[in-house]
Amino acid sequence: MVTKSVFGTLADGAQIDLYKITNKNGASVSLQTLGAGIQSLYMPDKNGTLADVVLGFDNPQDYTNPDLGYQGLVVGRWANRIRDAKFTFNGKEYKTPMNQGSWTLHGGGRFSFTPWDAEEVGDDFVIFSRFSPDGEDGFGGNFTMKVKYTLTDENVLRVEYTVLCDEDTVANPTNHAYFNLSGNADEDVQNHYLTINADYYTKTDADQLPTGELGELKGTMMDFTQSRKIGERIDEPFNDIIDGIGYDNNYCLYKKDFTMQPAAVLEHKESGRRLEVYTDLPGIQLYCGGWLDKDSDYGKASNGKVTFRRGAALETQFYPDTLHHTDKFPAKFVKANEEFKTVTEFRFFAD
Ligand code: BGC
Repeated sequence: MVTKSVFGTLADGAQIDLYKITNKNGASVSLQTLGAGIQSLYMPDKNGTLADVVLGFDNPQDYTNPDLGYQGLVVGRWANRIRDAKFTFNGKEYKTPMNQGSWTLHGGGRFSFTPWDAEEVGDDFVIFSRFSPDGEDGFGGNFTMKVKYTLTDENVLRVEYTVLCDEDTVANPTNHAYFNLSGNADEDVQNHYLTINADYYTKTDADQLPTGELGELKGTMMDFTQSRKIGERIDEPFNDIIDGIGYDNNYCLYKKDFTMQPAAVLEHKESGRRLEVYTDLPGIQLYCGGWLDKDSDYGKASNGKVTFRRGAALETQFYPDTLHHTDKFPAKFVKANEEFKTVTEFRFFAD
C-alpha cells in the first residue's frame, strides 16, 4: 500500500511530498521527492517491534545542507569524488563543480538537493524521475535518471536506478542512507557488527582521493571479512583513514562482473535486526558519519539527532574517481539512447 502526504516546503517555497510504502508486516519506507530520498524506514526487531532504522530530519530543508551528510538521498550524476573537479570522457573534457577542496563530491550536489517527480506509484513501489539537462553541473548529455523503490513483503527494499541519455556519458548513482538498526539515532553505530565482502580497498591520498592503487585489507583495521564491531578498531591509525574520522573508504567487492552479489551485512545484536546489502556494482563506501558534528540540533523528534558516528552509510557504487582510473577500476558507462541500469537491495531480517 502506498500513501502520499506533504512532507513540507523548502526555503524557496517548493513543496516536498512523502510517499509511504507499507508491506503486509507493517514495515514501511517513507520516500521524499527531495533527492528521491529515504526519509524513514521502519523495520521489525526480533519481537516484531517496528523502529526507524535510518537517520534523518523532520524538515525537508535540512536535507539540502551538504554538511548534514546527504541523509538518505540519491546521489548523482557521479557519487563520491572526482579529482580536480574535471575528467576526460570519449576525448572531451568536462568540468564539474569544485564543491569541496579541489574536487567534486557527490556530483556537485544539484542532483540530490532538488525535488524529483514521482512518476509512477504501484501497490508496493514508487518511481521517481529527474531530468538533468546537457551541461548541468558540467556533465554531458540530456540525462534522465529514474529510481524505483520497491518494498516487498519479505522486508526487502529494492532500489533500481535507470538512466537514459541522448549521448554517451557517465553515471554513478547511489543512495546515501545512514543505517542505525537499533532504531534509536542516539545510540552509537560503533556497537553494530559489520561484514564486507572485500579483500581490497581503493587506496587514497591525504584528501581521500584514490591514487589508483588497491590496498590489501587482510589483518588491517579496515578488514571486515569477518564480522566484527565497527567501533573495535575504528580509531587505530591507518594510512588511508583520516585521524578522528574513522571509516570513509571504498571497498572493492569480490565480484566485478556486474551481477547481483552480497556486499555487506550490518547487525545490531540487541534488537536482532540485520541488514544484508546486495548489489551489482563493484564497490561499496563505508562511511560512519565521522565528518558529522558531535553535537547537533538537527534530527527527527522520534529518533534522535544526526551526529558523529550514529549511522553507517553503505553506499554501493563504482569506485570513487573511476573517471581517472578507467584502466584499473571496473567501469561501465551510459551508451547514447540505451538504458543503463543498476540495482541495490537492502534486505532486512530479525532473529
Ligand atoms: C563521503 C564522505 C562525505 C559523506 C557525506 C561520503 O560518501 O565519502 O567523505 O563526508 O559522503 O557527504
